Amino acid sequence: MSESTPPDASSALSVPCLRIREPGAPDVLTPSEVILPPPPYGHVRVRIAASGVNRADLLQRQGRYPVPAGFPEDIPGLEFAGEVEAVGEGCFLRRIGDPVMGILGGGGYAAAVNVPERETIRIPEEMEPVTAGAIPEVFVTAWDALEGQAGLRAGETLLIHAVGSGVGTAALQLAVGAGARVIGTTRTPEKVAAAQELGLHDGILASSAAPDEWADEVLSRTGGRGVDVILDLVGGAYLAGNLRVLATKARWVVVGVPGGGQANLDLRRLMTRRAHLMGTVLRARPPEEKALLARAFETRVISRFEVGAGSGRLRPVVDTVLSWRDGADAHRRLEANDTFGKMLLRWE
Ligand SMILES: NC(=O)c1ccc[n+]([C@@H]2O[C@H](COP(=O)([O-])OP(=O)(O)OC[C@H]3O[C@@H](n4cnc5c(N)ncnc54)[C@H](OP(=O)(O)O)[C@@H]3O)[C@@H](O)[C@H]2O)c1
Repeated sequence: MSESTPPDASSALSVPCLRIREPGAPDVLTPSEVILPPPPYGHVRVRIAASGVNRADLLQRQGRYPVPAGFPEDIPGLEFAGEVEAVGEGCFLRRIGDPVMGILGGGGYAAAVNVPERETIRIPEEMEPVTAGAIPEVFVTAWDALEGQAGLRAGETLLIHAVGSGVGTAALQLAVGAGARVIGTTRTPEKVAAAQELGLHDGILASSAAPDEWADEVLSRTGGRGVDVILDLVGGAYLAGNLRVLATKARWVVVGVPGGGQANLDLRRLMTRRAHLMGTVLRARPPEEKALLARAFETRVISRFEVGAGSGRLRPVVDTVLSWRDGADAHRRLEANDTFGKMLLRWE
C-alpha cells in the first residue's frame, strides 16, 4: 500500500550473507554481503531473524544441487522467518512490521530477502520469529505430503522413516493430531525416546548394515497388515523393506533420498497391493503453486501452533540455534546426522 511504503523501499540495500566460495567442505561458507534491489512489484523485503539449514543446502554447497532459475547459485537457504521491513508496489497482504516466514528457491542465508508477499506465511501469534524459523520447510513439506498427496486419514497407520529429522518430527505431530497411528524408524537410539515425547506410538531402530530388518518389526507390530502410508525420507536403501510393509491401497510418498536415489522396484508388489507410489519436491515448484500452498498452510495449519489449539497443538522442534557466522558448524552437524528437529542460523 502506498501510504505505508517506507522511503527505503525504493533503495537498494547491502546486507550480510553467507556465500559458497567454491564447491567443497563446510568451510567454503564465507561471510559476505549481498545487494538487495528495492522489493519488486508484489514483493516485500523481510529482515530475517532465523534461516533454517536444510539437506539441500549441503548438496548445493558441494555443487551437487541445481539451483532453480532466478535464485543465486552461491547463497544457499530455502527458508526464513523474520519481519517485513519494506513493501513494494502492488502489495496488499502485508504491512511493515508483520512477522512472516516462508520458503524460498534459494538465497535465504542472508540478513534480508525480497520475497513475493503471496508466498509469505504469517508467524503464529506469540511465537518468537527465531523459533518460527523451524516451521516453513519441514511443516509445509510434511503437511503437503501427508494431507495433500497421501490423503492420510484418522485411524490409518503411517510409517515415517528418519522420524527424528526436521520433516519427520513435523510429520509425526501432524499425523498424531490427525488421529493416525505413527510408526517411525531412526538409526539413533536417543531419537526414538525424543520422538515418543512428540507422540510416536512405535519407534523402531533401523540399521544401515541390515536395511530390511525394520520391515520385520513393522510387520510384527501391525499384525502382518503393514502400513497405509509411508513418508519416505530415506529412499533407495529402504525400498525393498517399503515394498514388504505396504498394506492394501497404501500410499507411499518419496520426499528425500539420502539413502540413495536408485534401487530395484518389484512392480508386481505394487500391483498386488494396489498401492500408489509418488514423489514430491517443493523447491522446483512454480511461484503460483508455492503461493497457493503458502496461503493454504496459513489458513489451515498456523492456528494449530497457537495457544487455543489445545492438546493437539503443534510445536516447532528446534535442535540448535547458531550464529550465522557459524554456518560451517551447522553444516557439519547436519552432515553427521546429529540433529533432532531443526538447525537454525540466527541473524543478529
Ligand atoms: N521433497 C522436498 O521438497 C523436501 C523438502 C525438505 C526436505 N526434503 C528431504 O527430506 C529429508 C529429510 O529432511 P530434513 O531436513 O528433515 O533432514 P534432517 O533433519 O537433516 O534429518 C535427516 C536424518 O535422516 C537420517 N538419515 C540420513 N542419511 C540416512 C541414510 N543413508 N539412511 C537412513 N537414514 C538416514 C538421519 O537420522 P538418523 O539418526 O535416523 O540416522 C538424519 O538425521 C532429506 O532427504 C531432505 O533432503 C525434501
